[in-house]
Amino acid sequence: MPAPKILVMAGSLRAGSSNARLAALAAKEFALAEADVTRISFADYPLPLFDADLMADTGLPRQAIALKDMVGVHHGVFIASPEYSASIPPLIKNAIDWMSRPRDRGEPNYAVFKGRVFALGSASPGSAGGLRGLMALRQSLELGCGAMVLPEQITIGRAQGAFDENDNLKDETQAATLKALARRLVEVAGIMARASA
Ligand code: FNR
Repeated sequence: MPAPKILVMAGSLRAGSSNARLAALAAKEFALAEADVTRISFADYPLPLFDADLMADTGLPRQAIALKDMVGVHHGVFIASPEYSASIPPLIKNAIDWMSRPRDRGEPNYAVFKGRVFALGSASPGSAGGLRGLMALRQSLELGCGAMVLPEQITIGRAQGAFDENDNLKDETQAATLKALARRLVEVAGIMARASA
């Protein structure tokens, strides 16, 4: 049976992003758990702010279709997301909204969010580690899009000092949490892979 395919993305384009570091570290853990890992940047999928009139006038942006197709060929998706104003950063919300629109051969809206499993992580300078942002992201994915999101998640508070010079987590408990989360996502993605084979 081929390895489950895991897609990893960070919801920040900022140079030195803590969430990009978390995404990179998570990608290593997925590989150690013997998944086939792809890490993407939203910088490669530039999207206008969602506008239904724009969509009606010019159609779907090709990047929205490309992003949906990229998600669609994976069995598991890990999103490392910052918290903005106690909620989802617009980069991720906009991507979710655009991805919900392309429909192949009459498939229903939100089809790409089904048949795969999502896991969430966040890094933030605050002590709560972006927990409120993940609650909002979870709401959008689960209630809005019908996605299966693992109950396990990771939040890294005081993120500026959380990583060592090799970009590993300094705190052993956090490192163990990430490893366990990665193993769980690969395990459930493996079930999805077998179901779709
Ligand atoms: C923030 N930040 C932030 N942090 C937090 O813990 N709770 C919050 O509500 C917010 N709100 C917020 C709003 C806006 C507009 C910005 C730009 C930032 C701080 C944020 O977590 C911090 O900039 C992180 O470093 C962003 O993640 P990356 O870029 O390091 O991945």
